Amino acid sequence: MYFREFINFPLVFRNRTGRGLLQIPVNMAKAKCHRCEEKCGKSKVTPEELHRLEVGYKSFLRSDSKSLLRKYLTKDVFDKLKYKKTAFGSSLLDCVQSGFQNPDSNVGIYAADADSYVVFSDIFNPIIQDYHVGFKQTDNHPALDFGCVDKVGNVDPKGDYVISTRVRCGRSVEGYPFAPSISQSQLWELESKMMAVLSDLPGELKGTYYPLSGMTREVQQNLIDDHFLFKEGDRFLQSANACRFWPEGRGIYHNANKTFLVWVNEEDHLRIISLQKGGDLGATYKRFVMGVNEIEKKVRFMRHERLGYLTFCPTNLGTAIRASVHIKIPKLASNMNKLNEIAEKYHLQIRGTSGEHTEAQGGVYDISNKRRLGLTEYEVIQEMYHGIVELIKHERGS
Ligand code: ARG
Repeated sequence: MYFREFINFPLVFRNRTGRGLLQIPVNMAKAKCHRCEEKCGKSKVTPEELHRLEVGYKSFLRSDSKSLLRKYLTKDVFDKLKYKKTAFGSSLLDCVQSGFQNPDSNVGIYAADADSYVVFSDIFNPIIQDYHVGFKQTDNHPALDFGCVDKVGNVDPKGDYVISTRVRCGRSVEGYPFAPSISQSQLWELESKMMAVLSDLPGELKGTYYPLSGMTREVQQNLIDDHFLFKEGDRFLQSANACRFWPEGRGIYHNANKTFLVWVNEEDHLRIISLQKGGDLGATYKRFVMGVNEIEKKVRFMRHERLGYLTFCPTNLGTAIRASVHIKIPKLASNMNKLNEIAEKYHLQIRGTSGEHTEAQGGVYDISNKRRLGLTEYEVIQEMYHGIVELIKHERGS
């Protein structure tokens, strides 16, 4: 799937109040460029937008942010990109406002639309290269390869350390804009489309869809108790303008065994998740692959020839896979240098007990593969497998 093809779907224009929706085919919607007089999608931002961008950047520079955005958004890059707009009308501010407003971000940038990865490549590329450990702008993401699912083992066969295992991927559905530009009717349309697809899933994947809007307290509590419900009001997403019309069009699907989940219209159009108790990565991965393949029979996912599967956040590009364990490693937790050393060597990411932006409690961490781009699905799983096995070896003291 080539980049120019997938942007060729209706584009929704909003006025500042979010009302007055108007659908225009994207080719017509592209404004003429002030430099080349062609519809290249690089038309100039308005003086008001430019002012907001300059003010935001100034205060961002004064912050003590350690984000990748802070590292790579130099004055030169900023000055080069501040006038540009994508074919969807998104500016640099639309991509970086979350990072500006939340200086404690780790990354600090989202692609306001699929075109942003190209128009603002001078800032996305170095961040992508840093996050995905060396994926250069001349590199191409490999073709999809789930590998031999039966060859993946259990990371903790004795069940001493791993509490649960999870494999998920993000997917964007062709024909729909990313969260900051999707309209309310498109959210509803995408949700109904997914409800139809999910209600048709076979065998072990069979389950129920729970829409967020109009959800009863009881259903909500059950989903919270199972840790299935996604966070509402994530400040990073909110300031990226990604929670518009919440909770409309959002929902959660899970199978009867509660081992297969799909999130609809949270951060990405879709999050496809397989999970179970214990360390059987093989079984978790097998169910994950089955689920993704079943859904892909009915839905076309956005894929970029260089960046693989396209997602709202650049950390999820490529395979878009995050394979993680909840693991109890109190000994290593008291020797953070060692823990970080192993994590770095195996490209693991360490998160707190309740996931991203949380602290660890009782030596329990959420540990996953960090890079998702530049290697195949199977390699992602292998990398995470070997890293976790190594961590357990050290925790055990052998
Ligand atoms: N924007 C947030 C940050 O920079 C989240 C980044 C990765 N997580 C995600 N859910 N996309 O810290």
